[in-house]
Amino acid sequence: MAADKPTIRWGIIATGLIASWFAADISIPRPDAKANHIIQAIGSSSYDKGKKFAETHVPGKSPTIGTYEEVFANPEVDIVYIGTPHAFHKQNCLDAIKHGKHVLCEKAFALNAAEAREVFEAAAEKGVFVMEAMWTRFFPLVKSLQHLLHTDKVIGEVKRVFCDFGLQQDIPALPAGSRLKDPALGAGSLLDIGIYSLTWGLLGLGQQTEMPKIVASQHLVDGVDVASAVIVSFPQGQQGILTSTTFAKTPRSFCRIEGTKGAVVVEGFVASAPASYAVHLDGDEEPKKYEFERIGKGFYWEADAVAVDIAAGRKQSEVMPWAETIRVLSILDEVRRQGGARFPMEG
Ligand SMILES: NC(=O)c1ccc[n+]([C@@H]2O[C@H](COP(=O)([O-])OP(=O)(O)OC[C@H]3O[C@@H](n4cnc5c(N)ncnc54)[C@H](OP(=O)(O)O)[C@@H]3O)[C@@H](O)[C@H]2O)c1
Repeated sequence: MAADKPTIRWGIIATGLIASWFAADISIPRPDAKANHIIQAIGSSSYDKGKKFAETHVPGKSPTIGTYEEVFANPEVDIVYIGTPHAFHKQNCLDAIKHGKHVLCEKAFALNAAEAREVFEAAAEKGVFVMEAMWTRFFPLVKSLQHLLHTDKVIGEVKRVFCDFGLQQDIPALPAGSRLKDPALGAGSLLDIGIYSLTWGLLGLGQQTEMPKIVASQHLVDGVDVASAVIVSFPQGQQGILTSTTFAKTPRSFCRIEGTKGAVVVEGFVASAPASYAVHLDGDEEPKKYEFERIGKGFYWEADAVAVDIAAGRKQSEVMPWAETIRVLSILDEVRRQGGARFPMEG
């Protein structure tokens, strides 16, 4: 373990899909890692699930297995990673914060902006670090692209961003308790994958912190949105046309960013994990393509950044600050107000 890097001890709560990806990814040995990651504890609704999770995804280590509450109370845990369904994020965050733990909580950070504000108020009072795990923002590709678009202005002034995140999922065929089907768990394409399309829209259009004008439409099945289409418009005329669906899979070219001198097309298997982008300058015969390698899935980039922030005493990330989480959720709130998707606990 490198002594010149911060070491951070994680407590992981939930043993679902994303928690398994996160645990496996931060365990990958990387020569360029910015931090040492120790998986200290696993919290689960079932001891057996926790044990199996540890054996499968944290092999050769012996994290403590227990309940969520035991993870929150564990003095050897520095930070809690929350991988539960959306509807539980607020309470899981509040419980971790109450015990003085730092928090990295999966996207969507909460069901709505009001819940997120409640968590950030508690974090500010307790003086702990909290961040939404919007991992895509930490990809080197995204940093490189932001520099190309907004510092070097290679395609001139960015005017429009089209982004789609579609995953073909037969929602009606899923079991009743699935987080993708049950509105009480925060189901719907918008919070699950539409949040990435929105993220690309906001990043592609620039560093605006203001709220855009929003026009949205959703198609609901049993109260769950299976298609959401959003237009965000900013005062200088920039527009994001941002969509998500569980009807169909988006092809590899999931995002197009248009400027006054050309366009950039971003590709990847899904919009959450970009792999390359191509710059098409007006007048050029061929686009210039930039490819980005990664081992594993890439969750270690956000994990490294969190560890470095915490070691430096910061309470928020500059890449995914609290105000940005609130802005994103406020936009999603307005999309659902116009589109009709409601969560039962919102009344
Ligand atoms: N960043 C990404 O690329 C990415 C990808 C997928 C999902 N996510 C996000 O990660 C979160 C979880 O998604 P997932 O796909 O990992 O979900 P999942 O596979 O269904 O796992 C969710 C886990 O939460 C725990 N849980 C607690 N109460 C639950 C309840 N009432 N119903 C179901 N599960 C419950 C369970 O773990 P225990 O029984 O062990 O407590 C369960 O295994 C969501 O916020 C989602 O948006 C992010």
